[in-house]
Amino acid sequence: MTQLWGGRFSGETDALMRQFQDSLRFDIRLWPDDISGSMAWARVLVGAGVLSEAEAETVRGGLESVRAEFAADQFGIKPGDEDIHTAVERRLKELVGDVAGKLHTGRSRNDQVATDTRLWLKRHIAQLRQQLTGLQAAIIAKAEEHLNVIMPGYTHLQQAQPVRFSHWLLSFGWQLQRDKDRLDDLLKRVDVLPLGSAALAGTPFAIDRLALAADLGFAAVSVNSMDAVADRDYILEFLSWAAIVQVHLSRLAEDLIIYSSREFGFVELDDAYSTGSSIMPQKKNPDSLELIRGKTGRVIGSMTGLFATMKGQPSTYNKDSQEDKEPLFDTVDTLSMTLPIAAGVVSTLKVNTAAIYDQMDSAMLATELADYLADKGMPFREAHHIVGQIVRQSIALDQPLFSFPLAALQQFSPLFGRDVHERLTFNRAADRRAGIGGTGAGSVAQQLELLREQAGLEEDEE
Ligand code: ARG
Repeated sequence: MTQLWGGRFSGETDALMRQFQDSLRFDIRLWPDDISGSMAWARVLVGAGVLSEAEAETVRGGLESVRAEFAADQFGIKPGDEDIHTAVERRLKELVGDVAGKLHTGRSRNDQVATDTRLWLKRHIAQLRQQLTGLQAAIIAKAEEHLNVIMPGYTHLQQAQPVRFSHWLLSFGWQLQRDKDRLDDLLKRVDVLPLGSAALAGTPFAIDRLALAADLGFAAVSVNSMDAVADRDYILEFLSWAAIVQVHLSRLAEDLIIYSSREFGFVELDDAYSTGSSIMPQKKNPDSLELIRGKTGRVIGSMTGLFATMKGQPSTYNKDSQEDKEPLFDTVDTLSMTLPIAAGVVSTLKVNTAAIYDQMDSAMLATELADYLADKGMPFREAHHIVGQIVRQSIALDQPLFSFPLAALQQFSPLFGRDVHERLTFNRAADRRAGIGGTGAGSVAQQLELLREQAGLEEDEE
């Protein structure tokens, strides 16, 4: 078997060693990018005087055929195809002959693989961004549908204060909005062309790197060749980004798993996103959400794995860095499933308003009582203490706070007046939070519009 680098070698590579080092089984996914990179490279080799116009045409025609073979799923892999770069070059030579051997002039697989991976990631970042927007759209639509449903807001998973269901759901829309901002920002660091760095020292041929960047759609070119072939920050950053996104999805999933339990019963998942039990006929399990939560561990694992791979490497390229692709691909694959699944769960979610109201504890109005006293001039600390005692009595007497008689309240403070009971409704409590960021009707309606705008989801004006 001939290896592209075989000249220096007299002995064969051990068979297991070959399997160990070959990356084609996973980096074959880079074929569109590898071919694009080579197409652009052939063009600048003309400027550098390495290829004649006619030779470049031949090479580019050959690459076009290789692309067609991949696209038709007809590319034949041969033993000796170590990775996508060698596979494409080997096939090119079969198609166009010896001129193919000129294509690798002035470049190395070190700058080539970094270029391919960046091109690949840029394509997938665009797709993930759209999927994030898709989930935001589902969140916004569901929030709008149930804009004024009041539910218990939790801290420590204990009922805390009444909030709008829409407010709770939109909180995830904002997390995703930050994820999009972060993605836009990290894209700047992905969008840098390493090609032309060659193995580590730069290329001695007169390569127009700016033309190369323009041709391949990169916004910038790397300015230190040693850094360029070593750099995997853009992948570490992307994986860290993905871990944050998954943590958001996981927390949404966790809320919905709890809310869909029989004990809560706030929401019901659509059959399309649930599965049954093989033994318990009554079961309807939120597997979609459990998998979203579960896969978060896997994404965090890919991130930490690559950090560990990078940390001890000496400068420039080492084969360790080939280990960047599987965690990257796996993470992109995972997110391209979890995001649309989450969107499907949210848009088909059934909200049981009656069940939500049934579960609401009047003790969530305790803050209202304390605020009432504070409005009448009592220092809040003192009000808090007095209302604590009222709550204690309400528990002892099993009497909800909102039906506590005025006379009973007045035993705790003479400041309580006839207007106290109108304050003690969940709607009133929610609507009093009317400032920016609050759960009041107007605030949430405004918030929804703002998110729609920032997410790029404004309805087209007629
Ligand atoms: N398959 C290799 C990778 O993914 C390509 C770069 C190989 N470079 C080298 N010097 N052996 O990293």
